[in-house]
Amino acid sequence: MQKLKWINLIVVVIGIFLFGACEYATIQPDAPIPPPPPGDSTSYSLKVQPIFDSKCLLCHSGNQIPDLRSGRSYQSLMDNNMVVKSNSAESVLYKKILPGASMNMYCSSTEISTIKFWIDEGAKNN
Ligand code: HEC
Repeated sequence: MQKLKWINLIVVVIGIFLFGACEYATIQPDAPIPPPPPGDSTSYSLKVQPIFDSKCLLCHSGNQIPDLRSGRSYQSLMDNNMVVKSNSAESVLYKKILPGASMNMYCSSTEISTIKFWIDEGAKNN
């Protein structure tokens, strides 16, 4: 009887441990950032271009479409239909940086959110 209790306890402890391990594995590295307040749209030049500058230019600086260099990136994204204004779900730029897509490894989740908000707020050249 005493032995059975111990086995029960061990099973419960292992169960808790495994459950905890599963939960831990699904935690995102960055908490998603809340959307900006209404009317306070995400600035392309101040918020989006710096992501390209620091994370994307190694490859997207002319030969690789889209050209993400400062001063050219907005035009390149629009000319190549990579952004559908106000519709991130249909935008190649956004789809390419989502988890599982090929450009995801170059972006943090905060940067993904910034790009999403910018597109959903009308993808302004602001
Ligand atoms: C190490 C090189 C490299 C880096 C860094 C990189 N890319 Fe790319 N990117 C590529 C290559 C190669 C392709 C074409 C193959 C593909 O679509 O996966 C591509 C394709 C793309 C496409 C799709 C183009 C199309 O024709 O469909 C987008 C959008 C894009 N990258 C955005 C980004 C963004 C935004 C960043 C920075 C956060 C970034 N990339 C960083 C190499 C890179």
